[in-house]
Amino acid sequence: MSEQLELPFKEILAPQLSSITSKSFNSSSTFIDNMKLPVHRWFRFSAGFSAQWVETIINQAKQKGEVIVLDPFAGSGTTLLASEKLGIKCYGVEAHPFVVRIAKAKLLYQTDADAYLQYTKNVIESTEHLQACVDKYPKLIHDCFSISSLESLDRLRQSWEKLADDSTQSQLVWLTLVSILRHVSHAGTAPWQYILPNKRKQSPLEPISAFQLMAESMATDMRIAQKTANSVANIIQSDARTCQGIPDNFANLVITSPPYANNYDYADATRLEMCFMQEISGWGDLQSAVRQYLIRSCSQHVTNKNVNIDEILASPELEPIKSSIIKVYHQLSEERHLHGGKKNYHLMIACYFFDMAKVWLALRRVCKTPAIVCFVIGDSAPYGVYVPVIEWMGLLAQAAGFKSWEFVKIRDRNVKWKNRKHRIPLCEGCLWVHG
Ligand SMILES: C[S@@+](CC[C@H](N)C(=O)[O-])C[C@H]1O[C@@H](n2cnc3c(N)ncnc32)[C@H](O)[C@@H]1O
Repeated sequence: MSEQLELPFKEILAPQLSSITSKSFNSSSTFIDNMKLPVHRWFRFSAGFSAQWVETIINQAKQKGEVIVLDPFAGSGTTLLASEKLGIKCYGVEAHPFVVRIAKAKLLYQTDADAYLQYTKNVIESTEHLQACVDKYPKLIHDCFSISSLESLDRLRQSWEKLADDSTQSQLVWLTLVSILRHVSHAGTAPWQYILPNKRKQSPLEPISAFQLMAESMATDMRIAQKTANSVANIIQSDARTCQGIPDNFANLVITSPPYANNYDYADATRLEMCFMQEISGWGDLQSAVRQYLIRSCSQHVTNKNVNIDEILASPELEPIKSSIIKVYHQLSEERHLHGGKKNYHLMIACYFFDMAKVWLALRRVCKTPAIVCFVIGDSAPYGVYVPVIEWMGLLAQAAGFKSWEFVKIRDRNVKWKNRKHRIPLCEGCLWVHG
């Protein structure tokens, strides 16, 4: 079975990829299409990829035998939901404590829709007896909501908390509340996850109506998705650098998209929601609440104090790319002095690849031999210094024990806008690793 999976990589998967490059594959690295799909659309996670594209990959692999999927950077659960739809066993690993909760709640779509709706009604009803208390919310929350919206949201939050139990309905209602925040906020939010309090939306929704609308739409999705329900996916809060909790030789197909080395701060991406749910009081809490668990892919993550750079650059994990990463590290250390922000990209790049080397070692442990690994990935050029992410990633995969790699480009990046910060052409695509 697993031998069969190795062969078709070139003959089936790769031609398949090139044949769909023009349309469906172009959107494989974006979440936009998922906003039309039941359950996927419950939370807009801009960093996600397309579920339909995941299904295409799984269906191709399925033709040749049993497939067991792993997504070590599961995010909002796209790969897991796509696998469930196809009845394919799948495990996901996600380290972001808030994002993993979103994915877990989405995977509860098999809950009885009427029981869920009744729970949402109970939550709304119990708001009537509650006194709103908005003073305790941080400035960001006050910047994003009018006082009346915030009072209404606060009553919903308190009511959810009061009724909270271990039921699946309770977890789904948590997601309902979290999902409406950006619709209710008058601050600009989309398409990027960050919040823009100075940009105002024309007509944000009123909280109770937004909550009811979201509940109706989630219940409808539950009924649709339940028709093809297969409880075969599971997500754990763990670290892709160890894949702790995933058995050895588990998967023969990995479909994932790791954080890119492009300074996107996944911790900051859920700051609005976490502040509202009073899990953090602001940006300053993100390091201890979230960032510390994640791949070091943003400059805020790394400082001279928390990184022993000599140790990292001398580590055996970076051996396969040592001379080239040291060169880039020095270029970035010099370049930063020419820029106002003096960002720690030099530390970020070293730590990012050190972390990713560990991911490849962990993947070797949890993957069968042979297996196929598909990484949706992009290269990067912080401060205009080109980082050959794809090549380095391939070399680290091989050093971890995989046989070979190949890159199939999806699209060019950084070629469109005149005001871009640097003019190094970048791209995004699939790194296919097998062996
Ligand atoms: C590109 S996103 C994946 C999105 C996913 N494909 C989806 O459709 O929702 C990368 C994810 O990796 C997660 N992540 C970062 N560091 C991690 C780590 N050490 N272990 C597991 N997940 C991690 C981030 O929180 C983020 O959710």
